[in-house]
Amino acid sequence: MVEPTRENWSEVDAHLARTLVGSDPDLEAALSAQRVAGMPEIEVAAVAGKFLQLLTGIAGARRVLEIGTLGGYSTICLARGVGEGGRVITIEAEPAHAAVARQSIDAAGVGDRVEILVGRGADVLPTLTGPFDLVFIDADKQSNTVYLEHAAGLGRPGTVIVLDNVVRSGEIIQDTADEMVRGTQAGLRMLADDPRFDATALQVVGSKGWDGFALAVLK
Ligand code: DHB
Ligand code: MG
Repeated sequence: MVEPTRENWSEVDAHLARTLVGSDPDLEAALSAQRVAGMPEIEVAAVAGKFLQLLTGIAGARRVLEIGTLGGYSTICLARGVGEGGRVITIEAEPAHAAVARQSIDAAGVGDRVEILVGRGADVLPTLTGPFDLVFIDADKQSNTVYLEHAAGLGRPGTVIVLDNVVRSGEIIQDTADEMVRGTQAGLRMLADDPRFDATALQVVGSKGWDGFALAVLK
């Protein structure tokens, strides 16, 4: 038995990424551009990015909405998943982040499939027209319920929703004043109580520590 330490989760994650994802110069360049720009290194793990790409393909999604572009890492994965002729609309509140993402997405050869909308989700989402086939929510956790509300309104029966970061080192089981954790708890509560969603969630350990994601489908 290998000790379940954060270092070992990371090593196993790196092993899985090396084995199943392999070297990916476009994604590595996107990460490096993000780091050089001094942006937070909170993009999805390599294996999670591949998961998003596969899930997008499995769902047959042609129109994908992403809330929270950051440096475009997950956007590139989603854009690969929709394939040629597919479309990803991604929303980023920080113009400097959007500029870095634009370059990386174009350099990855999927720029023609991706539209970046710069602005706060709460402002941009009401301007969009659905339906989207898949929605990936990975932005400020305080607004999770707002984003889920829009995802429901912009979807159709069968639309897949992925909500990132639903475990937060286990803190979701605690009473807390932390607004990010409270937003995460509220998002999970909404997925459970709102009859429009059918959902589950999985814990994930790996290079990003201890976290997880919720997977939901619109009824
Ligand atoms: C944070 C946000 C994320 O989307 C993530 O994947 C990890 C951490 C954060 O804001 O702390
Ligand atoms: Mg995230």
